[in-house]
Amino acid sequence: MDTSRRPIVSEQRQWDRLMAMARIGAIAGDGVNRACLTALDREARRLLIGWATEAGATVSVDAAANLWLRREGTDPAAAPVLTGSHMDTQPEGGRFDGIYGVVAGLEVLAGLHDAGITTRRPIEVVAWTNEEGGRFAPGCMGSMAWSGSRRVTDFAEIADPDGVRFADALAEHLAAEADLPRRALGSRPHAYVEAHIEQGPRLEAEHLNIGVVTGIQGSRWFTVTLSGETAHAGTTPLRLRRDAVQDMVRAITALNALMDDPNDVLRFTVGRITVEPNTSNSVASKARFTIDLRHPDAAVLRARGDAIATTVQGAEVSEVFTAMPIVFDPAVVDAVERAADNLDLRHRRIPSGAFHDAQFAAPVCPSGMIFVPCRKGISHNPAEYAEPGWLGAGTRVLADTLVELAG
Ligand code: GLV
Ligand code: MN
Ligand code: MN
Repeated sequence: MDTSRRPIVSEQRQWDRLMAMARIGAIAGDGVNRACLTALDREARRLLIGWATEAGATVSVDAAANLWLRREGTDPAAAPVLTGSHMDTQPEGGRFDGIYGVVAGLEVLAGLHDAGITTRRPIEVVAWTNEEGGRFAPGCMGSMAWSGSRRVTDFAEIADPDGVRFADALAEHLAAEADLPRRALGSRPHAYVEAHIEQGPRLEAEHLNIGVVTGIQGSRWFTVTLSGETAHAGTTPLRLRRDAVQDMVRAITALNALMDDPNDVLRFTVGRITVEPNTSNSVASKARFTIDLRHPDAAVLRARGDAIATTVQGAEVSEVFTAMPIVFDPAVVDAVERAADNLDLRHRRIPSGAFHDAQFAAPVCPSGMIFVPCRKGISHNPAEYAEPGWLGAGTRVLADTLVELAG
């Protein structure tokens, strides 16, 4: 790499910006709760827009509320190189999951601006809407809608835990951002590169700076609904009950057996349970639970996922999210690896257990990801932590990769 064409990445500015973002939605224990399409999300986006404008980028928003920051290249007709991630968090989330990739992308734009470097291709940074799926399930709605794998209207009727429809939250949000130029939903970038914390323990344990991500395992999300009949807890004999909670316990036990994997590769999680009428002294009339199933092998993911309905007979099962395993483009993977090498950083190739918006970019354009370590692999937890230097190294790799791809 011609080092005179290296953007000036400021580790300190990036850290200060991450900490400023972490104050928006801060919760106990250094965590963040910043759900998508809320006032907090809008506050964070305004902060980002201010920084982007200072760095000479132009800002726009699309119909899925994905937020775009663009730095022009010398060839306006050339397809842009795209980077980014998400700004929403889990309800008990940390300070780095998602927002790091957005702030890192902005740091590259600012670093190019400061160094007076112009690339041939434009560089765009995107903040995808609702990656986490914590408020509206599933996640990755923004990137799915952009990629064309789903339409925004497919999500319209999905309600958050307070009963707010996605369509209404989106309309309110877009009205609040009506001052921003609107861009068409969907595009064909030259390449997509997303920086993210690893969310697993490997890089830190192996004293590595960079994970060169090779692909993402597949995920399927289901909701399972069991119906019973509510009754008095003190008077109704057990044999006369139709108790939805007891049926749910049996269903989850059967599913645990179905999902058993002696190699401990398969991931099976029941993370959300809702019960009606949800009182101590009434038999449950309804129990609903979510399944998050993951595996790197598409055949296993298909077979186990398809067997859920027969395993929980009598229940209503619906699949709400499908992201098949993907392998990243070797050209992008090699570019990331080369950048890490040129910067004398210690790196390894690594697959992703978490899903990311990059999973939906991969069918659209050559894509890849850069992982940085996070302490003990803790994520989706307020204790999530990455050192400023770890994050800075990841951003330097991102910068060199983007500059190489942007010509
Ligand atoms: C992303 O947040 C995931 O659950 O993998
Ligand atoms: Mn994330
Ligand atoms: Mn996450």
